Amino acid sequence: MRYAVISDIHGNLPALNAVIDDAKRNFIDEYVFVGDYYCDLAYPNEVVNTIKNIKGAHVIKGNKEKYLDVLLNSDQSEWVYEQFAPLYWNYRELDDDNLQYLIGLPEDKKIQPPNSNHKMHLFHAPAFLFKSTNMDLLSSSKYVERMIQENFSHEEYLCYVQKILSSDDKIVKILDGLDTDIVIFGHSHIQWHAEIDTKVIINPGSCGLPLDYDKRAAYTILELNENAINILERRIPYNISDTICYTMKSELYINAKTWCDIIFHQLNLAKEEITFFFRHVESIAKKKNDYSRPYSTTVWKEAANSWKSN
Ligand SMILES: [Fe+2]
Repeated sequence: MRYAVISDIHGNLPALNAVIDDAKRNFIDEYVFVGDYYCDLAYPNEVVNTIKNIKGAHVIKGNKEKYLDVLLNSDQSEWVYEQFAPLYWNYRELDDDNLQYLIGLPEDKKIQPPNSNHKMHLFHAPAFLFKSTNMDLLSSSKYVERMIQENFSHEEYLCYVQKILSSDDKIVKILDGLDTDIVIFGHSHIQWHAEIDTKVIINPGSCGLPLDYDKRAAYTILELNENAINILERRIPYNISDTICYTMKSELYINAKTWCDIIFHQLNLAKEEITFFFRHVESIAKKKNDYSRPYSTTVWKEAANSWKSN
């Protein structure tokens, strides 16, 4: 069995199409999607329709889909916060059946592949692992900070991840207690995999918004033979300008210009910026002694006007 493991599409249809074309050329049997299908780029319905049309795909929720649960039962007259403008737009843009589809997805899923001794557990951002400070070291913002200190290759990063995780007794113990030998999750937008004792961990990176200094769409092929596990990390070029031009012409851009401009910058450089922008917003709020959260329009606008992308 060959699985295409895909995560964090973030509304980027051209990236998803490129990944699916590559997966077909690689004789994929089944598709695994581990969350964050919409938000930052302007193709929410097209992405969801594409996933829904893949027969037998394994699909779970990401944190973006969990926001829809919150918005579903809220009063739209209170949707006034600019920091949530992309979420508001996507919620209103999603067709009813697509919205219900995303809301109805499970938060995790176990897969027992046929004729195999292996078993997979899918998550978006498994809370039991993400509590560890060592997982924080693997975040996209820490990736930028490390890269600024010392340029490193993907192979060096894989060694670093392996070292960080296998030396964390708590994580090793938690993994040991799981009844599956393959754990799959996304969320950080950084592609990696590691083997910790008898467990294999796979993060396929981000299809639609990679943040590991490689702007090609990421996904990972997982091949299961009777006893062996083969992992092949793939990076697929696609036309980033198509995604940016389409989004710039959409109402998402009119509704959330600052946000989209940062996202375009992230797309072009494959480098985390939103986290640093939020730190900037926080510093402006503190200077103004404005402790209202979500951030007030005054704070958000001042932060947007004074933000300079690196
Ligand atoms: Fe994401």
